[in-house]
Amino acid sequence: MANTLTITDNRTGKQYEVPIADGAIRATDLKQIKSDADDPGLITYDPAFMATAACKSKITFIDGDKGILLYRGYPIEQLAESSTYLETAHLILFGELPTAAQLKTWTHDITMHTMVHENIKKFMEGFTYDAHPMGVFISTVGAMSTFYPDGKLIFDQQSRMKQIHRLIAKTPTIAAYAFRHSIGRPYVYPDNDLSFTGNFLNMLFKMTEVKYKPNAALERALDVLFILHADHEQNCSTSSMRAIGSSHVDPFSALAGAAAALYGPLHGGANEAVLRMLKEIGSVDHIPAFIKKVKAGEGRLMGFGHRVYKSYDPRAKIIKRTAYEVFDVTGKNPLLDIALELERIALEDDYFISRKLYPNVDFYSGLIYQAMGFPVEMFAVLFAIARTVGWVAQWEEMLLDSEQKIARPRQIYEGHTTRDYVPMAKR
Ligand code: CMC
Repeated sequence: MANTLTITDNRTGKQYEVPIADGAIRATDLKQIKSDADDPGLITYDPAFMATAACKSKITFIDGDKGILLYRGYPIEQLAESSTYLETAHLILFGELPTAAQLKTWTHDITMHTMVHENIKKFMEGFTYDAHPMGVFISTVGAMSTFYPDGKLIFDQQSRMKQIHRLIAKTPTIAAYAFRHSIGRPYVYPDNDLSFTGNFLNMLFKMTEVKYKPNAALERALDVLFILHADHEQNCSTSSMRAIGSSHVDPFSALAGAAAALYGPLHGGANEAVLRMLKEIGSVDHIPAFIKKVKAGEGRLMGFGHRVYKSYDPRAKIIKRTAYEVFDVTGKNPLLDIALELERIALEDDYFISRKLYPNVDFYSGLIYQAMGFPVEMFAVLFAIARTVGWVAQWEEMLLDSEQKIARPRQIYEGHTTRDYVPMAKR
């Protein structure tokens, strides 16, 4: 017998059997529950989607209690150890690790799209020197929809794939241009002889040398960070990508919206906030006073806590290890000692233990980025480059899902009932 939920409506005395599948009931099955003929039917109230699944997905699995993260079934630890960002991107998008031939074609397809239209460069020159690179990134990705009007052909598989290539390939170029713009250096064109992250480092840091040679350890560390950030199921920005995409707008416009969601300090902006917090704390001696303030509700311990993970974020563990590999090349980030002591104290404190607050992906990533030479303003942009593949994979999955329609939540109206307009003189 199929699992069902029996609901008794005390208003009418009626009983209803609602099917349970995959640990969920369909909210629309509740619509049949009415107090009288005029009742539009029961709806669910779930601010911030605490207990609502909005889609079925085959891409990413998270077990927040056990600290498990899988892309298409593969543990994040194994991918971080053995894969590359482009290989993982193929896995996320197409569902399988590529064969050698598939990886060659995929790498070629991405590499051949790394250049951007010269007018995009001119467009970016319009921003002031101190424009936040994430604002520049969001605007420029949005502007791409005007450069690639074929992006509107969202139900044409070939066109969709072309826009996906463009987005994955060009976001590093746009990010690097935004960085160079902010420090007043000339933009560097892509070097297609280099790897995905090697080329990105080239566009960021090349000076007068004829050929830029990325440091192999830093190139690999960045690749690992990109793998860790590539997808994370239905987080705020990915849900935004799906919701905006559900209106059938082009993927450039939808991705600009997703990136805007990522910009916030509770999401991808958190690693920037972590670094500002560590700087503000200033020294290990000031940590107890800072923790006291957090416990009193005066601010949060940034880089701690997660909606889904109620144990150590598996990505944070890998990042902590990667940090030491980077510091071997760059020298230790002086803020590391504060971060380590902050983590030690927080993990022993009942406030954090009882709320299951552990370091998340953003706690240590900023320390690495800073040691590699990135200003804090670039941190969310780096996250956005990596998450681009997750966004487009989830967007495509949404488009091809016959159950999906335009996203349109309901509300519980608490405002005035009908009232007559009052002329100005009578107010
Ligand atoms: N510092 C102090 N207290 C916290 C923190 C924190 N970082 N996070 C949660 N709490 C407390 C919160 O005050 C609440 O306590 P109480 O029950 O006494 O009111 C309890 O823990 C539950 O918090 P919540 O706000 O209901 O949890 P949430 O699931 O809505 O929020 C979160 C998740 C990630 C927004 C939150 O933990 C947070 O603000 N963390 C700091 C920002 C951060 O690091 N964000 C990055 C998230 S991971 C990467 C990403 O998603 O981009």
